[in-house]
Amino acid sequence: MSEFDNPYRAAPGSEPPALAGRDAELEAIKYAIGMTKTGAAAQSVVLIGLRGMGKTAVLRRCIAGLHDEGGIALYVQASADLRLATILRRAIERFKNDNASIPDTLRSAFDGFIKALPQAAYELPSGLGGVKLSRHEQREEEEIVDALEALNTAVRKHGRFLLLAVDEIQECPPADLQMLIALAHQTASTSEPVFLLGAGLPESIAYLHKIRTFTERWRYFRLELLTKTETIRAIDEPAIERNVICEHAALERLVSETRGYPLFVQEYACATWIHHRGNRIDLEDVIAVAPAVRKTINGSFYDGRFRGLTPRECRYVLALDALGEGAHSVAEIAAELGTTSDAVSSTRNQLIKKDVVYAPSGGLLEFRMPLTNRYIAEHRLDLKKRAQAVGG
Ligand SMILES: Nc1ncnc2c1ncn2[C@@H]1O[C@H](COP(=O)(O)OP(=O)(O)O)[C@@H](O)[C@H]1O
Ligand SMILES: [Mg+2]
Repeated sequence: MSEFDNPYRAAPGSEPPALAGRDAELEAIKYAIGMTKTGAAAQSVVLIGLRGMGKTAVLRRCIAGLHDEGGIALYVQASADLRLATILRRAIERFKNDNASIPDTLRSAFDGFIKALPQAAYELPSGLGGVKLSRHEQREEEEIVDALEALNTAVRKHGRFLLLAVDEIQECPPADLQMLIALAHQTASTSEPVFLLGAGLPESIAYLHKIRTFTERWRYFRLELLTKTETIRAIDEPAIERNVICEHAALERLVSETRGYPLFVQEYACATWIHHRGNRIDLEDVIAVAPAVRKTINGSFYDGRFRGLTPRECRYVLALDALGEGAHSVAEIAAELGTTSDAVSSTRNQLIKKDVVYAPSGGLLEFRMPLTNRYIAEHRLDLKKRAQAVGG
């Protein structure tokens, strides 16, 4: 067996060898796809979670086998710098390239769709920060909805159905998001519904609600850390498939090192695999690689965020940490600091800008990266020292 036979995938967006702990999400989406296929509208589903929790992995898994089921999935990764027309155009080109066997009539429907899309001539950022469209934008959005509806009709004529998978939904400019929601909403009352599947950071929920009220009735799944059993499955199953046995103590240590954070599960498992010899993964393999992996992880996810913090920001971070994991109200954090929310609002805003914390919804604050509390526990002395420095 070569070391390149490593089954683990430590890169964002990569498909994990075992997609552990996401059965409820997969089931719900499968059901919604089944409904869409028969012509009955399903509620849109949005996967919510911090970075590296596995949103893209679930999204990709759901659309992977869709073609064989008669579905046509357009996967787009929203971007604040790109208009949807541009991204959709690329998604169609990709789909055509990946599916050489589609009938010519359907292929020409795709070409017609691309032609019908307005050239993304209007400037950026479009309506960012607001949800009101200019008349010009409104006309262009209508053109995109019309083009998508025409595509949908053509797709249905071929006995197929359309799924729009929008990743990083929080990045989608409001005008484009409104348009996608309108499409899902309008087709829901027909026998040719389009299924909208989204994924995004936790603030996406508040963003979607702000854009359209009926998005409150959508189904939201929050992807959390994997449980111990799920983490073991994610690591053990791919090894077993390659006739490699993971020692129980090795798995236990991997669980405690990764705390079930999918991105770290892959990082640690990947490094451990490279280190192992023969057909066993032992505790010694994990112990040997753990310090280097921890260093890499800290370097990539935390050090940069924490290095430049001012004493005030250090104090704020320590106060949020003292309240425990998860989201806490800004008032609670201020109380922990012995002050009022207003008095520390500029520190809070700075920490949001530095991407150390974010506001999942009004009045709440949470660390941006999973397991930040553990990082702080490891660096508490240093942070406390910096927090006590005069000024800043
Ligand atoms: N359920 C899972 N079990 C094990 N590994 C996973 C799981 N979901 C995702 N991963 C892995 O975690 C990493 C991050 O996944 P990704 O889908 O990119 O997260 P997100 O889109 O939420 O940022 C990738 O390396 C992926 O292979
Ligand atoms: Mg992703």
